Amino acid sequence: MSVKELAATINDIAIRGKGILAADESKPTIAKRFASIDVENNEEHRRAYRELLFTTPGMEEFISGVILFEETLSHKAADGTPFPKLLAAKGVVPGIKVDRGTIPLTNSEGDKVTQGLDGLGERLQNYKQQGARFAKWRSIYPISAVNPRRLAMQTNAEVLARYAAICQENGIVPIVEPEVLIDGDHTIERCEEVSEEVLFNVFAALHRHHVSFEHMILKPSMVIAGKSCSQQSNVDEVAKATIRVLLRTVPGSVATINFLSGGQTEQQATAHLNAMHRLGVTLPWNLSFSYARALQAPCLKTWQGKPENVKPAQEIFYKRAKLNGAASCGEYETSME
Ligand code: 13P
Repeated sequence: MSVKELAATINDIAIRGKGILAADESKPTIAKRFASIDVENNEEHRRAYRELLFTTPGMEEFISGVILFEETLSHKAADGTPFPKLLAAKGVVPGIKVDRGTIPLTNSEGDKVTQGLDGLGERLQNYKQQGARFAKWRSIYPISAVNPRRLAMQTNAEVLARYAAICQENGIVPIVEPEVLIDGDHTIERCEEVSEEVLFNVFAALHRHHVSFEHMILKPSMVIAGKSCSQQSNVDEVAKATIRVLLRTVPGSVATINFLSGGQTEQQATAHLNAMHRLGVTLPWNLSFSYARALQAPCLKTWQGKPENVKPAQEIFYKRAKLNGAASCGEYETSME
C-alpha cells in the first residue's frame, strides 16, 4: 500500500468548505434523469451534460472531487481534453464508481448485495492510468419490518471491506458507501436503529480487513424518516440523530465523511448538513457532502438538453455547490437560497 499516495489524495479531497460531486450515474440511472427532462439518453448527451458540469466556472471553489462513471472517464470535452485531465487541471480530484450494481441477496428476502469484486484490482490499475485517484462502491439497505436482515448487514459489510482493502492496495482511496434507503414509511427512530447496526457491521469488517481508516472516505445516508412516513422530522432532529449515530460508530481516525443526498430535496440536504455543524458538538472528522441529485437536480431541469441553456444551468449548479460549501462549514442561511 502506498500510504503517501493515499494521504495526498485524502488531503486534496478533505478540504474545509469543499465536497464531492457525484456525477457517476450509471446508464439506467442517467436514463431516468434525462427522461425527466425529455432528453434522449445517448452517449453524446451524456458527454455534453457532464461537460456542462465540469466546465462550470468556479465550481472548484466548492468541489474538491468528482465521481465519474466508467464511460465518462474516457470522454473528452469539446476541445479534446479528457475529462480527468480537465478536472485535475482545476485542482479537482477525479474518482470512479467501481461497483457493478446490486442483485437480490440469496436467502435474505428483500435485501440486496453489490457485485463487482472479481478482477477489481486490474480494473483499478486501468482506471488509475486514466487519472482516477479514488473510487466509490455503494451498498444499499432497504428498511422494512424485517429488512435489512442480519445476513445482509454482514454480507454487504464484508464486500465493502474487501473492496476498500483492494482499493488501498492499489493506491486508490475508497469511498465506502452504505446507503440506508429513504423509501418506505419507517420512522426516524427505526432509521437510527438500522443505521447504527449497519455502520457497526461496516466498521467491524473494515477493521477485520485491515483497512486504513485514515485513508478512506465514508459516504453515509442521513438518519431520517422514510419518505412516506406520516411523521416527518425537522432539520434539527435529523442533524442530532445523524451525528449521534456517527459519533457512536465511526472512528475519529476516519479522515472525512461525505453524505449522499438519497432523495432529499436540495434544500433539505443543504439544511441538514448545515445543522450538523451548528449543534455545538466537536466533530472528529471533516463532515461534508458527496451529492448527486441535491447538486444537480435544478441544473438538469434548467439545461433541458439545449445548448443555449448551458450558461444558466451552470450558474444554478455553481449556486448549489456554493450553498453546500457554506453548509459544510455551518455557514448556510435559508435566505441565501
Ligand atoms: P444522491 O446524492 O443522489 O443520493 O447520489 C449520491 C450517490 O453517489 C449515490 O451512489
